[in-house]
Amino acid sequence: MTRDVRITPSILNANRDDLRNEIAKIASVSDLLHLDVMDDLFVPNFTFDFEASSKIIEECPIPVDAHLMVADVDTVAAAYAEVGAASVTVHVEACEDIRHTLRAIRSGGARAAIAVKPQTEIDRYADFFDEIDMVLVMTVEPGFGGQKFMADMMDKVRRTRSLIGDREIWLQVDGGISLDTIEIARNAGADTFVAGSAVFSAQEPADMVNKLRDKVATQ
Ligand code: DX5
Ligand code: ZN
Repeated sequence: MTRDVRITPSILNANRDDLRNEIAKIASVSDLLHLDVMDDLFVPNFTFDFEASSKIIEECPIPVDAHLMVADVDTVAAAYAEVGAASVTVHVEACEDIRHTLRAIRSGGARAAIAVKPQTEIDRYADFFDEIDMVLVMTVEPGFGGQKFMADMMDKVRRTRSLIGDREIWLQVDGGISLDTIEIARNAGADTFVAGSAVFSAQEPADMVNKLRDKVATQ
């Protein structure tokens, strides 16, 4: 598996009644499992509470990338690290004390990441780049899978890449990533790709992960 890019399938639109099997379909070909945690407050959708999320994190055969779309993120983020998430992403729009929360995630043993919604500028958060391991630039409004990729976010991806400079920070995109859009995001500077419906609506989810990787991995 080439390591210059990462494919992180989202189980948001997978069959939630059979998650263990759904995850098994993609585990051997995926870098991390992207877990979308939604509370019906920060976004108008609900997925998993902390208890359900913890169970997924504990049982998942590959590292979990927890994308927290919850209002009380300052309070709960570190707990996701403590139950074993490999990476914990917090939305800057939901945080009251970003620095404290990022440090708590790292202290809990996980990689720390910030996410920005489409209307949130990245520049004012550059001061936090010394506290993070990944930036997530949303390419749809958070809340639902299956939305159209916002190509107009590519300026923000390019800007984020330039703010990262030579730091070892991953740059993730999330929303509408498919065989048609992944190269656009890669060319703008993304190196970590969430794909939900593209993977789980495919006949062979693992093949789709490999195809997505082939589009963007440097040979
Ligand atoms: C949306 C979630 C995404 C979602 C992506 O708020 O953060 O991770 O699962 O789904 P697709 O790939 O279908 O746009
Ligand atoms: Zn997500």
